[in-house]
Amino acid sequence: MNDESGSLNFRHHCLIIKCKSKNLTIKEMNNHDFGIVGLGVMGRNLGLNIADHSFSVVGMARDPKKAAALLTEAEDHMQVSSTTDPATFVGLLKTPRAIMLMVPAGDPVDETIATLLPFLGKGDIIVDGGNSYFPDTDRRFLELEAKGIHFFGMGVSGGENGARFGPSMMPGGDKKAYERLRPIFEAVSAKVNGEPCVTYLGNGSAGNYVKMVHNGIEYGIMQLIAETYDILKKGFKLGDAAVQEVFSNWNHTNLQSFLIEITGKVLNKFDEDSPERLVNMVSDVARSKGTGKWTSQDAMNLQVPVPTIDAAVNMRDLSKYKSQRVLASKQLIWAGNADIFEEESVLVNRLQDALYFAIVNTYAQGLAQLQVASDTYNYGLNLEDITRIWRGGCIIRSVSLEDFRKAYQRDPKLPNLLLDTVIGNDLSAKQAAIRDTIKMAIDLGLPVPAYMASLSYFDAYRSAALPTNLIQAQRDFFGAHLYERTDREGTHHSQWD
Ligand code: 6PG
Repeated sequence: MNDESGSLNFRHHCLIIKCKSKNLTIKEMNNHDFGIVGLGVMGRNLGLNIADHSFSVVGMARDPKKAAALLTEAEDHMQVSSTTDPATFVGLLKTPRAIMLMVPAGDPVDETIATLLPFLGKGDIIVDGGNSYFPDTDRRFLELEAKGIHFFGMGVSGGENGARFGPSMMPGGDKKAYERLRPIFEAVSAKVNGEPCVTYLGNGSAGNYVKMVHNGIEYGIMQLIAETYDILKKGFKLGDAAVQEVFSNWNHTNLQSFLIEITGKVLNKFDEDSPERLVNMVSDVARSKGTGKWTSQDAMNLQVPVPTIDAAVNMRDLSKYKSQRVLASKQLIWAGNADIFEEESVLVNRLQDALYFAIVNTYAQGLAQLQVASDTYNYGLNLEDITRIWRGGCIIRSVSLEDFRKAYQRDPKLPNLLLDTVIGNDLSAKQAAIRDTIKMAIDLGLPVPAYMASLSYFDAYRSAALPTNLIQAQRDFFGAHLYERTDREGTHHSQWD
């Protein structure tokens, strides 16, 4: 569109909508500390959080309503401005500029960068705060490095509330440039015992990779909680109120965590249109945005087993086959033994130990993936730092993370949490609980793939000898793929029949 055609040029619409603070001089208005592009609820909340900590913030959104909403929500003490125009936005920032993108992952990130680039200068920093796919971050990092611009992929976890009052943040990129962002990010992040839940994590796409694995662990734990809910309801035949009480109580035990806490809250909510609890009215077809799948996919690429996370991804996929499941439920009947004779308190306590065991195994898998990824992609990750910044603000925060942090303090190069003697001994003592829980679920015909994957992972990991010797022999039989012997060096081939 151009002016001669009678249509207004986009830029003519794009004045500063307003500056919230009445006390800013023109000079200060062109001196904002931080810019945010994308003023959906996450972007707005993060902007307000930053402004709460006495940093001046300018927001930009293409939609004038979203740009205006930032100002409406800002309180009077905040120094907040907002615009729909990229040139105005960039001009309002102090140099070198710090800009955060809170736009959906994928093409919108590239489009936004392209929109801003003509106005940016050397030394400026762009932080992508979305769940971007890590190879995209590596590409953007190199493209922008060539232009003298620092690019950060930073996972931000904690949802809307976290963004507003303290998220866990996982930045990766240029270490020196991070020092300029550090005061702002440390101020706005969640704190645990006074320690901020943000730190520089490593090179290139390290931040997005760590957030991706965070989400993979999130998938695993959510699937384990769902299986537990199924056991309580369909296995132990507890009513809705009793199931809710179990989760609420567990949040005062070693299971204390954000996901257990919200499960208790979710189960407590009643539907407004029926006498049912709302969760009973929710469809069982699960959606996902891709980060769990990426975790599994890259774990396969790295040859790091993460079976609980794989099971969680599989179950979300299986949930989509609703009509087939309904049909199969009528054809594939299980008429096995469904009698349970133990006291409810015995069952619930055992289930608590089983869930704890399986959740720790899920963290162990994700953290083992991060150790290998760090070496393979040259991220330079420090697992103690990661467990420290996951203790607060993020979706997988839990009291156990303090124990995991201590394990990495004892041995920063620990290849697997299960090898830490404190954690390993604790899980060994709880293994009977998960074995009994799984046996019972099998008898009842309840699907518990994440529980099974967690226990099998534990059993396989603690096996000095696996039956994979037979696989090696078979490969050599049919394909002359060679095999190694246990008693001498080198590769061998045999005539097997
Ligand atoms: C977080 C969440 C957040 C988002 C997930 C949802 O850490 O705050 O992980 O990033 O809620 O990406 O993922 P799915 O839609 O794939 O379940």
